[in-house]
Amino acid sequence: MLLSRSYGAWLVLFLLISPAFIAPSMSQLDSHWAAKKRYMREKVRKMFYHAYENYMKHAFPHDELKPLTKSFTDSLSELGNLKLQHLPRNYNGSALTLIESLSSLVIMGNNTEFERAVTWLSENLTFNIDARINLFECNIRVLGGLISAHILATDSTNRLVQGCYKNQLLNLAEDLGRRFLPAFDTPTGLPYAWVNLKYGVMEDETPETSTSGCGSLILEMGALSRLTGDPRYESAALRALRKLWSMRSSLNLLGTTLDVTTGEWIEYSSGIGAGVDSFYEYLCKAYILFGKEDYWRMFHSAYLAVQKYFRHGPWYHEADMRTGKATYWQLTSLQAFWPGLQVLVGDIGAANSSHREFFYVWKKFGVIPERISVGICWTIRCYILLKSIIPCGRSWRSPHSTSIKQPKIHGTYKLANQLSILLICTPK
Ligand SMILES: *[C@@H]1O[C@H](CO)[C@@H](O)[C@H](O)[C@H]1NC(C)=O
Ligand SMILES: *[C@@H]1O[C@H](CO)[C@@H](O)[C@H](O)[C@H]1NC(C)=O
Ligand SMILES: *[C@@H]1O[C@H](CO)[C@@H](O)[C@H](O)[C@H]1NC(C)=O
Ligand SMILES: *[C@@H]1O[C@H](CO)[C@@H](O)[C@H](O)[C@H]1NC(C)=O
Repeated sequence: MLLSRSYGAWLVLFLLISPAFIAPSMSQLDSHWAAKKRYMREKVRKMFYHAYENYMKHAFPHDELKPLTKSFTDSLSELGNLKLQHLPRNYNGSALTLIESLSSLVIMGNNTEFERAVTWLSENLTFNIDARINLFECNIRVLGGLISAHILATDSTNRLVQGCYKNQLLNLAEDLGRRFLPAFDTPTGLPYAWVNLKYGVMEDETPETSTSGCGSLILEMGALSRLTGDPRYESAALRALRKLWSMRSSLNLLGTTLDVTTGEWIEYSSGIGAGVDSFYEYLCKAYILFGKEDYWRMFHSAYLAVQKYFRHGPWYHEADMRTGKATYWQLTSLQAFWPGLQVLVGDIGAANSSHREFFYVWKKFGVIPERISVGICWTIRCYILLKSIIPCGRSWRSPHSTSIKQPKIHGTYKLANQLSILLICTPK
């Protein structure tokens, strides 16, 4: 360890002093990257099939594989449901992992398996189940999975045997969308976090939800409306989004949790991690997908407020939406999407510096911890930097992001490839 570290330090010095002597030629670099890309692609392909085939073998048609016990869990009704309340009886799952794998199968070029999955789902999937599901999770995973697979099944590439696809996935998506609608029937238009697929919102349902829970529905529900011609899905999601946006503070900050019946905030502290994250992502992607300036205006104001009140160097802490004062100084795993979003809007300097620090933390622990104090990250980073004889503050000076670019959009509404790419890229 010691030896390799001091060797590393000398190497850094050597690189700084005489880059010209050892700089490889461009073509060497190109072939190095090409080889690395091939290696990574093959690795990802192997990982995908390892997961997919074991799911199909040990868990399908249940929702998810439990890899250690080779058993399964029906997570659609369990996601976010820590107390495991109101679980459906006599239920064998909704093939959640299969639905979430559909677009990956197409990306991997496995049209035979894609077709087999589409046929199975067409005949066997039903949402007429007595299951209390989390609206947000079901939207991003199931509705999003079905819609993007429908788009991939109907684009000009003809992946399916002629005539075997008759919009079955879109019909399933529409059936699911209809079951979402009762959740939006509140005085504020903000949806309940939970809805029973068969019976609608339950009598004693909690009115508490999160900003991401009611502010990241527009991509899937908007796409469903455009594809079916039924405006109800997009209107419901948009009304909720506008209401949520109207609840921002004078600093353009939002809280983390709120009451859907009163429209009052419950938790005023928020950041870019759990409970808020995809709200920002969806504003930006809704602009790219639907081309409405309105989404960009909301995103732009929200983004600048984040950079102003949550950012400290490369790190993001939480702050009180009313005062902008810092509350929790933590790096959390769900913040990891932020640099990617920043690249999408051209804030490369900020993305670069955060990504680099997050990556150091990842390398240190082998994973980005669920939650870790920024002070600890800072110490780890300082230690590494000191070891490589670079003054600590230097690399943290990153440009202030005051201007971002509107991503390019093609015409107003060009659904097919954009949506599938957006939905595929939507993490969680
Ligand atoms: C679930 O599987 C069990 C065992 O195969 C079966 O008895 C039951 O009828 C299935 N439930 C449904 C809703 O299909
Ligand atoms: C497609 O997926 C199936 C199931 O995992 C697998 O057996 C088959 O080899 C795959 N085909 C290709 C071309 O990768
Ligand atoms: C529907 O599910 C049943 C039970 O798993 C299976 O036998 C049948 O082949 C499925 N339908 C299709 C079209 O795959
Ligand atoms: C990212 O930051 C590193 C270190 O400061 C710098 O060398 C590199 O050029 C930056 N990359 C971009 C794309 O800004």
